[in-house]
Amino acid sequence: MSARFLEPLENVLATIGWTPLIRLNKVAGGAATPVYAKCEFFGPGGSVKDRIGLAIIEKAEREGRLKAGGLIVEATSGNTGVALATVAAIKGYRCVFTMPDKMSQEKVRLLKAFGAEVIITPTAVPPDHPDHYTQLAKRIAEETPGAILADQFYNPANPEAHYATTGPELWEQTRGHITHMVLGAGTGGTLTGAARYLKERKAKIRVILGDPVGSILRDYFYTGTKPEGHPYKVEGIGSDKIPGTLDLSLVDETVAVSDREAFLMGRRLTREEGLFAGGSSGLVVHVAVQLAQRLGDPDALIVCVLADTGERYLSKMYSDEWMRENRLLEPEAGTVEGLLQVKDGATPPLVSVEPATPVRVALSLITAHDVSQLPVLAEGDCVGSVSEATLMSRVIDDPSVLEGPVESLMEPPFPVIDSHLDAATVMRLLSRQNPAVLVRRDGRIVGIITRYDVVRTITSRT
Ligand SMILES: Cc1ncc(COP(=O)(O)O)c(C=O)c1O
Repeated sequence: MSARFLEPLENVLATIGWTPLIRLNKVAGGAATPVYAKCEFFGPGGSVKDRIGLAIIEKAEREGRLKAGGLIVEATSGNTGVALATVAAIKGYRCVFTMPDKMSQEKVRLLKAFGAEVIITPTAVPPDHPDHYTQLAKRIAEETPGAILADQFYNPANPEAHYATTGPELWEQTRGHITHMVLGAGTGGTLTGAARYLKERKAKIRVILGDPVGSILRDYFYTGTKPEGHPYKVEGIGSDKIPGTLDLSLVDETVAVSDREAFLMGRRLTREEGLFAGGSSGLVVHVAVQLAQRLGDPDALIVCVLADTGERYLSKMYSDEWMRENRLLEPEAGTVEGLLQVKDGATPPLVSVEPATPVRVALSLITAHDVSQLPVLAEGDCVGSVSEATLMSRVIDDPSVLEGPVESLMEPPFPVIDSHLDAATVMRLLSRQNPAVLVRRDGRIVGIITRYDVVRTITSRT
């Protein structure tokens, strides 16, 4: 029991912050690097936004912009609304919230339970469209006397709240041993505030942004250009524009994660760790666990932020029907990633050789893994391939080639494609010339898909 609950509290606002940091065990898959989760769903409003609701309102009061009986307006995917509405309930303000229509019914009902008014807007409009939820909130705040726009995407009080609380808590809870922080960015307030504080304490802490596939943040981080975003189902993080409260200079790496990966990990978190959190939490844990496995360093310490409670998604990611309707539950071959996941579990996702590998070793790998060909990789790139048929016939012609490097018998490299592309791309590439394609995820070659894999997927479906 936390020491701060030993005394009675004045009101619920005193319970904001100081959420527990809890170790992830089973979902970490035996990684040597410890992974801890900052469980923001322990707050009174069930999300990380509790921290900023209070900070934004108190700042507006101090600046004289919010007076007794005033109106608080915000464009919110739900959690910020709950946080603002909690504070408003205690301090006697009214609330109006605008929200895109992809958000769950639970979130809408929740805000109404606090007495807030909720206006639903279409998701599929560009950010500058008058019907976009952010534009609509701005207009209501401008046109209503005594109203303030909480403005979480631009309000400096948002990152400041995390600089003052989330960052110091993580520092203290890890006794300064934190080496990596993994989190998503909606407004970027958590990231900007917590990362700024932590990097001031220890400059070499690495900050990894987990971004939903479809959000533009990852591409913007790596290329400086803003591509068209496309819809995705994880709520609360990622963006089709760059928020004013997000300081990307604090980010060291970004990783794109599919809805499927995020939701499946979110469900595992509940079933295997007893941590009932939302899809964005699944997304960051997916990234954190991959990072832990990649680092394999017991002296590193990864922290990820679980932003909100799973109760907000009972009719979505926690509903098998919804997951099935969205083809997120069973292995599906709609994407290259899907094809990779339904591969025969007995074979590692990628078996490869280097140019200098002896032919004898390549042949024994081919036999051991029961495959017909292998990619030849050099410094992470595919520089060629070797096939069982060619190697066999060359060895029969001249047994001395067995000790030579595969480089001398190499055939052309396999094509490399991105894991998020449509599975149809693989079908087109697996021609007579290409018996296999390699799959790249986050810049690294992570798997191979062969004609055999594709035929197996097709036959298992019919
Ligand atoms: C579910 C969820 N996860 C993560 C975040 C990200 O927080 P921030 O806006 O501080 O980037 C939010 C914010 O809305 C959220 O609702």
